[in-house]
Amino acid sequence: MPRRRQIYEGKAKILYEGPEQGTVIQYFKDDATAFDGKKHEVLDGKGVLNNRISEHIMVRLAEIGVQNHFIKRLNMREQLVRRVEIIPLEVVMRNIAAGSIAKRLGLTEGDALPRPIVEFYLKDDSLGDPLVTEDHIAAFNWASPYELGDMASNAFRINDFLSGMFAAIDIQLVDFKIEFGRVYEGDAVQVIVADEISPDSCRLWDRNSKEKLDKDRFRRDLGNVIESYREVARRLGILPEDPTPLTAVED
Ligand code: TMP
Ligand code: ASP
Repeated sequence: MPRRRQIYEGKAKILYEGPEQGTVIQYFKDDATAFDGKKHEVLDGKGVLNNRISEHIMVRLAEIGVQNHFIKRLNMREQLVRRVEIIPLEVVMRNIAAGSIAKRLGLTEGDALPRPIVEFYLKDDSLGDPLVTEDHIAAFNWASPYELGDMASNAFRINDFLSGMFAAIDIQLVDFKIEFGRVYEGDAVQVIVADEISPDSCRLWDRNSKEKLDKDRFRRDLGNVIESYREVARRLGILPEDPTPLTAVED
């Protein structure tokens, strides 16, 4: 691999300077973390799967006009993306009660919510990514009211589209997290979807068995993490029916 300048290393990805101005190479690691990094394991092949799944989802989103950072996949672990200024918020959309909302509001995991709900969390591991309100976001200027509205409406649109996409392959989209970034074009600032959308950042349940096919398998020590991610990729049509081992040959 040619030596490149590393811009940032996160828990699951590394960002390198891209070949052209305004581009970044996003490298998907096999590291899995949970509980703000307190739980950590290396899961052989996770990065390869998330690279492919996130590519697939970002391409589908671009096709319906949801602007995002994805440019092209470079190899098994890397994709070329637009350089953005990340907005320090995690935007979570929920359809079914699970995880932190179930705990916070005393809901039973698996119960349908009255309607899809959007939430904002501050991206700060040292604080445990706290839930924040629109007024916090405006007061501390993490995003402008215009950007906030844009992120929320995009989140609902993405939820509608991805819910349908997953329903077609017998998967329920329980909830997911997305991140947004700013791109500057002359005087104009635009907010686009960034980061990744993968089983690391979604809750995906098999429609019939309710089996979890996402990172909760890791968080809750349920086993078969990679097998589940591979099943998602297979149903999306990304993997051949009888895949060669994903980690065997890396281009
Ligand atoms: P939560 O129920 O733990 O708040 O998670 C909601 C959704 O956001 C779920 O699909 C998992 C995802 N998520 C992340 O991608 N990163 C995180 O740091 C957390 C806490 C959740
Ligand atoms: N990604 C977060 C962490 O590493 C939390 C999570 O996904 O549960 O701690």
